[in-house]
Amino acid sequence: MYYPRIINDDIYYIGESDRRLSLFENMFELPKGVAYNSYIIMDEKTALLDGIDESVSERYYENVRAVLNGRDLDYLIVNHVEPDHCSSINNILREYPNAIMVITDKGLNMMHQFYHLEYEDRVMIVGEGDQLKLGKHHLQFVMAPNVHWPEVMMTYDLTDDILFSADAFGAFGAIEGHLFVDQVNYERDWLSEARRYYINIVGRQGASVLRVFKKIGDLNLNIKTICPLHGLVFRKPEDIAMIMDKYTKWASYQAEEQGIVLVCASMYGNSQNLNDVLAGMLADRGIPNIRVYDISKTPVSEVISDLFRFSHAIFTCLTYNTELYPGMDALMRELTMLNYANRKIAYLESQSWGGRALKIAQDIFTKSKNLEEVAEPFKIKSSAAPEQLPDLEKFADEIAASFNDN
Ligand SMILES: Cc1cc2nc3c(=O)[nH]c(=O)nc-3n(C[C@H](O)[C@H](O)[C@H](O)COP(=O)(O)O)c2cc1C
Ligand SMILES: [Fe+2]
Ligand SMILES: [Fe+2]
Repeated sequence: MYYPRIINDDIYYIGESDRRLSLFENMFELPKGVAYNSYIIMDEKTALLDGIDESVSERYYENVRAVLNGRDLDYLIVNHVEPDHCSSINNILREYPNAIMVITDKGLNMMHQFYHLEYEDRVMIVGEGDQLKLGKHHLQFVMAPNVHWPEVMMTYDLTDDILFSADAFGAFGAIEGHLFVDQVNYERDWLSEARRYYINIVGRQGASVLRVFKKIGDLNLNIKTICPLHGLVFRKPEDIAMIMDKYTKWASYQAEEQGIVLVCASMYGNSQNLNDVLAGMLADRGIPNIRVYDISKTPVSEVISDLFRFSHAIFTCLTYNTELYPGMDALMRELTMLNYANRKIAYLESQSWGGRALKIAQDIFTKSKNLEEVAEPFKIKSSAAPEQLPDLEKFADEIAASFNDN
């Protein structure tokens, strides 16, 4: 059953939410599910914007039929060829034999790679600035390479000033009735999942995101609505300004807020104890927003998301089989892959007989830009000894002092 969800006069939301999948990309936890968004413009010509994941495709085909209500589909616009949006494409082309697929040349290649496309004669290749007139609605295509895949484009409806933004501005989380950001408490209930989505999935591509923002700025587009491929739709100027501001910070690798993330991986609780004592000292020094995580417990994507959110971080380098504890090693490598930068950091080291955990950690971060070590590494042997308390207080003083320099 489909109940019409209207974006704007003749534009319909036909996405579906998945509350069963436990891991997005078999990697990212989905405590609140995920929505795959898709839209139809019902004009003199009809246009479907993007497909969805196969897990919810049966319902989706029903939605497409319900909105078209017997009309033919003229265009299928494919902004992004990742399988969470494209597994339904072949079926749509099969069901609507007059539909023309509108896609970038890179996108078409990728469609062949993933889906061995059968409909080469029904393809319209578009590039930067190309337009498509549906009747009342005039669409313009804005290339968005590497946000976050190479073939990505966005579609701009010049008539209603709607940006169909592909994965940009998306979030994890299923739709709960409300489709628009202004209908929910976004900052309280959605922003952390938007951040976790962006940082983990698009995070590496900050420069490409900023390039598209510049292009949109140069085109003088007066965006009134943003329709992403996941999460909620933005339609109030203040909400658009809010998410643009967040994206600009994330894409330029600037912290959103003063705060510190302490990450450890503790097998027997001794380095956990060190982290807890240090966190208490930092709290007593007036440091705001303190997070303490054990990387073996908290989903990595959440830890990464907070590392990007806050200005400071402390990494515990626990020695494991003479090297860096594997979970911490993986976290730090993923951070460099995501271009984690511009933060103040410090290290704690735990070892019992010997190894190079700290050295490995420092080597990994040599690849990262502008990570300033604000205190000498603080080292423990198996557990923090009571007589180390004054030295740990000094370490906490140095961390606290580095907050004042900001
Ligand atoms: C399987 C295993 C391998 C370890 N390998 C080393 C090692 O090669 N060198 C070392 O100094 N400590 C090693 N340790 C000790 C840890 O670095 C650490 O000091 C100890 O686990 C106490 O910290 P925790 O209570 O936070 O787990 C190892 C511990 C375990 C459980
Ligand atoms: Fe994607
Ligand atoms: Fe996606």
